[in-house]
Amino acid sequence: MENAKEAAAAPATDTPKEASVPAATAGGGAGLRGVVAASSSIGDVNGEQGILIYQGYNIHDLAAHSTFEETVYLLWHGRLPTQTELDAFKREIGAHYKLPPQVVELIRAFPREAEPMDMLRTAVSALDFYDRECCDISREGALRTATRLTAQFPVLVAAIERIRNGQDPIPAKPELDIATNFLYMLKGDMPSEREARIFNICLILHADHELNASTFTARVVAGTLADIYGAVTAAIAALSGPLHGGANTNVMKMLLEIGELDKAEDFVKNALAQKKKIMGIGHAVYKTEDPRATHLRRFSQEVGESKGETKWYEISRKIEEYIHREKGMYPNVDFYSASTYYMMGIPLELYTPIFAVSRISGWTAHVLEQYANNKLIRPRAEYIGPRDLKYVPIGER
Ligand code: COA
Repeated sequence: MENAKEAAAAPATDTPKEASVPAATAGGGAGLRGVVAASSSIGDVNGEQGILIYQGYNIHDLAAHSTFEETVYLLWHGRLPTQTELDAFKREIGAHYKLPPQVVELIRAFPREAEPMDMLRTAVSALDFYDRECCDISREGALRTATRLTAQFPVLVAAIERIRNGQDPIPAKPELDIATNFLYMLKGDMPSEREARIFNICLILHADHELNASTFTARVVAGTLADIYGAVTAAIAALSGPLHGGANTNVMKMLLEIGELDKAEDFVKNALAQKKKIMGIGHAVYKTEDPRATHLRRFSQEVGESKGETKWYEISRKIEEYIHREKGMYPNVDFYSASTYYMMGIPLELYTPIFAVSRISGWTAHVLEQYANNKLIRPRAEYIGPRDLKYVPIGER
């Protein structure tokens, strides 16, 4: 080798011999698809058949009969509550709706143009300071923190929306459930019973999804025995990305850009020709219809019809049909939640924070499970860089 530059650029011929991670276990380059990274009794995704279960219960049964609060209890305790237990849990949630005033002041200090998802991340991180129990990661202590966070998430998101629009937050009503309260705090009007029920089911549908990117993130952080606030703050950051929860806002931006039904096919055709991804379409696990999309498609149509505006539902249908015909792909949870929320009058920037209002239940369920049987999560990387390079003093490079 003539000089160090050449040495650095040369292929590392000795890499295979020295590789310290067996190639068979190396999956990082492929996004860990199919790698089982934890044992869990919380939820299961059957990607071939399109079945999602929480603690043994099919998501379709929970959507038909359950409430978000009951589902949260199920995720955390592994069984459905009795009426007395559910009533007590709802009272506990109601008692924690109030935010520390310092956190409200902090939100007021954020730049108005900041993304609500980023504001949520920073506000949740700050909640830690005002929770004297924040470091208690015993099952009982962690459950109490999980309850507080689940109660405070919707209040935070509604407060963020009001404050960034120059309005004062509307105090939560302790007697209301999370879904009704959220819609009430957003606009100051009580939602119709049907709208609150639809939103409640949306929260059930988003509650857990096995080792998705944000839940895995939460487990990795909890695995270091950091507190729940740290785990959840990191999970919010993971959820915000457009390949994860951030897709729902982008779906609505796309629908608005398309604008008219007769432009939908051309838009998708052009996007695919440019190798662009259509947001809300495709899934890392489902090879058939995402069972959550089945409900959300129905809600998109129903809410649209009730408001006398089915255009966004119809454009979505057109995109879905086209992409299924051409690419054999299906919509995921984010595709129809976009037009459902839009027709409910919810601002676009809140779609991903709303996902977090629900997913806090799944994140905390997984954090509780991680703490209960903890092992530091520390995989290996398959090293593919050069080795044995000779250090060259800076003046000689
Ligand atoms: N639009 C167009 N093509 C898509 C696509 C989409 N939304 N999603 C996947 N594809 C195509 C890819 O271009 C790729 O094609 P190629 O093999 O010709 O290169 C193939 O399908 C596999 O895609 P890949 O991204 O490797 O699959 P994945 O399993 O990693 O994808 C997602 C999972 C969710 C990241 C991906 O489908 C996506 O980016 N969807 C849009 C974002 C979204 O809705 N995220 C929310 C998920 S709940």
